[in-house]
Amino acid sequence: MDIAQILFFVSLLLPLHLSLSEHRISNAGDGDTIIFTTLGRSHYEFDIFSLSTTHPPSISVELQLTDGESVNFNGYFPSPSPALISLLPDETLIQLEDSSPLHLIYVTERNGTSSIYYDLVSSSNYSDTTSNQRRSVLEAAPSRVQIPLLSSSHRSGTIVNSFKDKPSLIGEFLVYVSTHENSGEPRTSWTAVYSTELRTGLTRRLTPSGIADFSPAVSPSGNLTAVASYGERGWTGEVEELSTDIYVFLTRDGTHRVKVVEHGGWPCWVDDSTLYFHKRSDEDGWISVYRAIVSENGTVTIQRVTPPGVHAFTPATSPNNHEFIAVATRRPGNDYRHVELFDLKRNEFIELTRLVAPESHHFNPFISPDSSRVGYHSCRGEGNGRRSPLLLLENIQTTTSDLSLFRIDGSFPSFSPKGDRIAYVKMPGVYVVKPDGSDRREVYTGMAFSTAWDPVRPGTVYSSSGPTFATERTEVDIIAIDVDAADKALSVRRLTTNGKNNAFPWPSPDGKRIVFRSGRSGHKNLYLMDAEKGEAGGLWSLTEGAWSDTMCTWSPDGEWIAFASDRENPGSGSFELFLIHPNGTGLRKLIQSGSGGRTNHPIFSPDSKTIVFTSDYAGISAEPISNPHHYQPYGDIFTVKLDGSNLRRLTHNSYEDGTPAWAPRFINPNDVVLRRKNDSSCSFEDCHWLNKNPTLKDQKISC
Ligand SMILES: *[C@@H]1O[C@H](CO)[C@@H](O)[C@H](O)[C@H]1NC(C)=O
Ligand SMILES: *[C@@H]1O[C@H](CO)[C@@H](O)[C@H](O)[C@H]1NC(C)=O
Ligand SMILES: *[C@@H]1O[C@H](CO)[C@@H](O)[C@H](O)[C@H]1NC(C)=O
Ligand SMILES: *[C@@H]1O[C@H](CO)[C@@H](O)[C@H](O)[C@H]1NC(C)=O
Ligand SMILES: *[C@@H]1O[C@H](CO)[C@@H](O)[C@H](O)[C@H]1NC(C)=O
Ligand SMILES: *[C@@H]1O[C@H](CO)[C@@H](O)[C@H](O)[C@H]1NC(C)=O
Repeated sequence: MDIAQILFFVSLLLPLHLSLSEHRISNAGDGDTIIFTTLGRSHYEFDIFSLSTTHPPSISVELQLTDGESVNFNGYFPSPSPALISLLPDETLIQLEDSSPLHLIYVTERNGTSSIYYDLVSSSNYSDTTSNQRRSVLEAAPSRVQIPLLSSSHRSGTIVNSFKDKPSLIGEFLVYVSTHENSGEPRTSWTAVYSTELRTGLTRRLTPSGIADFSPAVSPSGNLTAVASYGERGWTGEVEELSTDIYVFLTRDGTHRVKVVEHGGWPCWVDDSTLYFHKRSDEDGWISVYRAIVSENGTVTIQRVTPPGVHAFTPATSPNNHEFIAVATRRPGNDYRHVELFDLKRNEFIELTRLVAPESHHFNPFISPDSSRVGYHSCRGEGNGRRSPLLLLENIQTTTSDLSLFRIDGSFPSFSPKGDRIAYVKMPGVYVVKPDGSDRREVYTGMAFSTAWDPVRPGTVYSSSGPTFATERTEVDIIAIDVDAADKALSVRRLTTNGKNNAFPWPSPDGKRIVFRSGRSGHKNLYLMDAEKGEAGGLWSLTEGAWSDTMCTWSPDGEWIAFASDRENPGSGSFELFLIHPNGTGLRKLIQSGSGGRTNHPIFSPDSKTIVFTSDYAGISAEPISNPHHYQPYGDIFTVKLDGSNLRRLTHNSYEDGTPAWAPRFINPNDVVLRRKNDSSCSFEDCHWLNKNPTLKDQKISC
């Protein structure tokens, strides 16, 4: 049997793709299309890598375990149980005896949706552990068998549209996080722990209903699971290190749930009574790793493990290994996050990834059951020769067959009236492109944000020229760009001139007026002006008050203007969505995300009956420290009917999703490639708040 045959068998095991295609509509015409932005997403190209814990680390021994497709993260080295082995095609079983392949379970985002995969990877290039000199099929590249867990149709656990995280395999059971069940409460995370029996797909929720659990870890015996959780308190908007507690419950059924540690996250077990976790030290402010020992009488002893002077977090352990743990660190003076071992006997760090790839972030280590390997995820480098294409539109799988959903590589997208062009912002600059990725042109080179197409003047796109998130007095003005102008110098008309933060222009469907927000009164409120001559042709105040009204859009039927406002709690940072008739009557609140929540960027559907928007309605989906920097580690795309009914969550991830647009016509749910990427795409930042050195007071954070 050769590799082609093995891959053929593997492809038969991918009913994910088959069941997917059943959902897909091939004929354009009916159905809705929504596109949105994820800040920075096109820069994450994580793969899972591994280093030996016994050999000196170097680039030549770093093993790339995942296949260079998509975003692969949060790996786990399972002990290969019979249930796992039974998933493998028969042909590969010979290989199990022949070589010593690595078993890896991890989270992947291929096809735009979070899945948990199991890969069997040849380790024969790295014969540092055993005598695998014998030739085997798996020795040839690509030496991999890949099986999606949880997604095949013959198992009942088809949990498609959700964020998945932190998988562990305990015998027959996969234990993991998923967000597929609505918490039922605004601004409450949907993140809960589930266990799925691999053979039957039988899935059980282990987290009590109404509660969110993050970062589960199963004890070596499998009996206990520890999680980070706010318990009944719920998430209140924390975006840095979380003040979660650590709870332990029976993996079997989630019962006997007890809080064992006050303040802690990212637990992991050494034995069934010892767990490690991270938290910010109350004494010195350094994020550090701690150990909790639970004695038979239930007393919990907590000891600090890593010293002040280094942020050390996301610990990893292996069963009964009391010699060392693995951690990620941020050291003062180093801008990169690295994986290190921490020698528990000598109380010292042993550097790993800085010696391999000093200028790359490395995340969330995990250790093999025999302690011989440490895994982590990191940007795939130039070295491996694989470069994923840069997608203009990345299709995000949904469970609704009449909706296609895309992530666009840019922000503030909007569609031309016929849907044959998209305008978007890629700071600094405004671009237009056809939905098939062709004809992409920069139409405005300055700093600008928001785009809206004129419904009657062909090729006219409105935007706000100036910086985002600025004060009322900042110079921002509304411009109209003729995207087809032959003479670029004459392509921009300025519709406001007072420079008092005039932004978010949106034309009325008859093309006569423009609604926008302006800080001209000292507060950001909504105004209407003449679309042709700008404010010189007529200016009307629509809302007025000592608060901020912003992000206004006009319904295609002309009846409503939707906007975001903090009017119920001015200056609090909390925004809700409101509707108002263009004549100033009918003001009402459409939706609010809990108390202190954020709900922004409302856009109408073509039939004016529904609004798509971004919100923290579903809280956070992972501990922010386990991810790269996000200005807000929350924000998902939702739709809601104008009467406030039928609230639907469309995206599930731990990124910041925002600035949606609703297409006037259906776009088939396929990725649209912009071009091949020509860089290693590792230009994202680590959590800015980890740059803080707690021993230096009033330190400026540079970013
Ligand atoms: C899923 O993504 C893979 C590439 O990562 C692609 O080959 C496959 O066609 C996609 N499946 C669907 C149903 O889009
Ligand atoms: C294994 O070695 C072969 C030949 O040296 C090389 O082409 C291949 O990329 C290696 N595989 C991995 C996973 O590094
Ligand atoms: C795990 O549970 C089983 C069955 O209840 C028990 O026999 C075993 O001793 C437990 N293991 C540990 C380490 O607690
Ligand atoms: C519980 O056990 C620990 C160690 O086994 C001991 O130090 C402690 O005194 C005991 N506490 C109680 C309340 O019995
Ligand atoms: C304002 O506009 C709404 C919606 O078009 C309309 O129903 C209402 O009668 C108008 N009110 C006034 C006072 O013009
Ligand atoms: C890719 O980048 C290299 C160096 O950065 C450059 O020489 C080459 O022309 C680029 N290729 C493309 C297709 O942009």
